[in-house]
Amino acid sequence: RYKAVIFDLDGVITDTAHYHYLAWKRLAESEGLPFDEAFNEHLKGVDRMGSLELILAQGSRSYSQEEKLALADAKNRHYVELIATMTPADVLPGVLDALAEVRAAGMGIGLASVSKNAFTVLDKLGIRDRFDQVVDAALIANSKPHPEIFLTAARQLGVDPKDCLGVEDAVAGVASIKDAGMVAVGVGSPEVLTRADYVIPSMARFRLGDY
Ligand code: G6P
Ligand code: MG
Repeated sequence: RYKAVIFDLDGVITDTAHYHYLAWKRLAESEGLPFDEAFNEHLKGVDRMGSLELILAQGSRSYSQEEKLALADAKNRHYVELIATMTPADVLPGVLDALAEVRAAGMGIGLASVSKNAFTVLDKLGIRDRFDQVVDAALIANSKPHPEIFLTAARQLGVDPKDCLGVEDAVAGVASIKDAGMVAVGVGSPEVLTRADYVIPSMARFRLGDY
């Protein structure tokens, strides 16, 4: 039925969503701003500056562009420290089987992450060569929930968006898939990922034939 499957990275392929959470939490707290898991759900899938804007909007003080860049840079340095120790053992359960299943079905495999650290993470996990196309986040003007990144992945793979299945853990990511005209598999909770066509609790439950 599908010609390609396009995966998100953070929170789908590996648990870097948790590292982003830890790094943003420390940053928010250093600015005296509230931060918890529920608020973090809104940040998942949103690019670095977009996430920072959402965090700073929780307070009343205004920040200059220079201050914002310094804060984003501090968060990224902490994040890069956290991912430095990652190894191939950090690929989440079920992911390698899912990639093999898609490959065996003769479908294209894409990666759509707005993270500028995506290539580093793929290399640390040792799985870059399992993707036919990895979108370069530096070339994406509009972060998820905008559909640009999933549409770009489909174009790079040479397939029509309607022939693509997208896999995402984020509310913004599922919106990006749906607005690209694709079918969405959410990884997480159905109460959170309300726009997903299918929801699985983890990648260990990914079965291509179910969608
Ligand atoms: C992904 C993550 C977000 C992160 C964004 C940018 O979308 O889900 O949590 O903020 O990438 O990541 P970067 O590594 O470029 O700061
Ligand atoms: Mg994600």
